[in-house]
Amino acid sequence: TIKSVILSGGSGTRLWPASRESYPKQLLPLTGERSLLQETALRLKDFPGGEVDPRPLVVTNEEYRFIIAEQLRQIGVRSPQIVLEPVGRNTAPALTLAALVAEEEGDPILLVMPADHVITEQPAFQHAIAVGAKAAATGALVTFGIVPDRAETGYGYLRSGAALAEGEGARALLEFVEKPDRATAEAYVASGAYYWNSGIFMMKASVWLAAIRRFAPEMAAACAAAVAACTHDADFIRLDTAAFERSPSDSIDYAVMERLAEAPELGRGVVVPLSAGWSDVGAWDALWAVSAKDGEGNAARGEVLFESCRNTLVHAGSRLVAAVGCEDMVVVETPDAVMVAHKDRTQDVKKVVARLKAEG
Ligand code: GDD
Ligand code: MG
Repeated sequence: TIKSVILSGGSGTRLWPASRESYPKQLLPLTGERSLLQETALRLKDFPGGEVDPRPLVVTNEEYRFIIAEQLRQIGVRSPQIVLEPVGRNTAPALTLAALVAEEEGDPILLVMPADHVITEQPAFQHAIAVGAKAAATGALVTFGIVPDRAETGYGYLRSGAALAEGEGARALLEFVEKPDRATAEAYVASGAYYWNSGIFMMKASVWLAAIRRFAPEMAAACAAAVAACTHDADFIRLDTAAFERSPSDSIDYAVMERLAEAPELGRGVVVPLSAGWSDVGAWDALWAVSAKDGEGNAARGEVLFESCRNTLVHAGSRLVAAVGCEDMVVVETPDAVMVAHKDRTQDVKKVVARLKAEG
């Protein structure tokens, strides 16, 4: 079977003021009634053939434990395993913890999903996962590639090679470059030879653990010690804090994926193309792009009134918001802050968050 691992750590500062450190983006209902975390967990249910264990293993900061447990309960997820990190150490330790916990059940294939992505086409997603599972079963480290439409520098880039026996578009992973600079990203996109890394991965638990022991032995040791001394409390798995704090901080992408070529004995890298309406909703413009819109391209959440507006996104949290003659705007209303931005400048919201932090 396939064991799903949901990574739910970050805070999503570009989605301020809806997203806060105390209530990060994956816990917000941004696209509909359910939060992105709930959508992620539901995506793993009802796979044809039921290959994916619908009880996810969620790795999160302990600060979010009650909200996460409650949100999973609301959608009928029974007995999830929720691993609580006392501090954030980025995604490589988070996945290492998950692999260690999963290994106690044999050596399942892990399906690693960020908690804060949108995927609109479930059948295409399921199809790609089935192809990825075939490759992962042979010991491969599988990435899912998105055809890029711009030179985004916040993503990883994948260059693929020869078609593989798994078929269905699966290809050898020749090169993985995390967060290239702008000129490099532009050259990659222009070449047509690169995919974006979706941030979804599949591999056997043992394959990940072998890779992390090879590339980041201190991290492997700290995570192993943190899990060896963990305690179980209902659905929560509490780590040994002192042991986990000793782990270095690094991402899956930098710690392992970029370096696969250094250690071919660990397993081959594979790219499975994913064309399923993927978006990581990094900022408000991306959320507008994936939202349901009226005939003029306006998207709304809450009590909103549009008068002669076009291509505008309005999120009303607690009050009625009326927009008049707005084009390409984003308006987000919450009880204690209102943000108004041009839709092309929503990346800069993080600058506001940084200023607010600096000014205390
Ligand atoms: N449990 C846990 N602990 N989860 C974490 C932590 C942590 O310390 N840090 C991040 N996460 C979660 C985030 O909540 C998110 O769901 C996921 O792991 C990915 O982390 P990000 O911090 O959002 O990564 P990124 O966006 O910079 O880059 C990754 O995703 C891109 C696509 O969205 C990379 O995989 C890129 O290569 C990729 O293109
Ligand atoms: Mg991200």
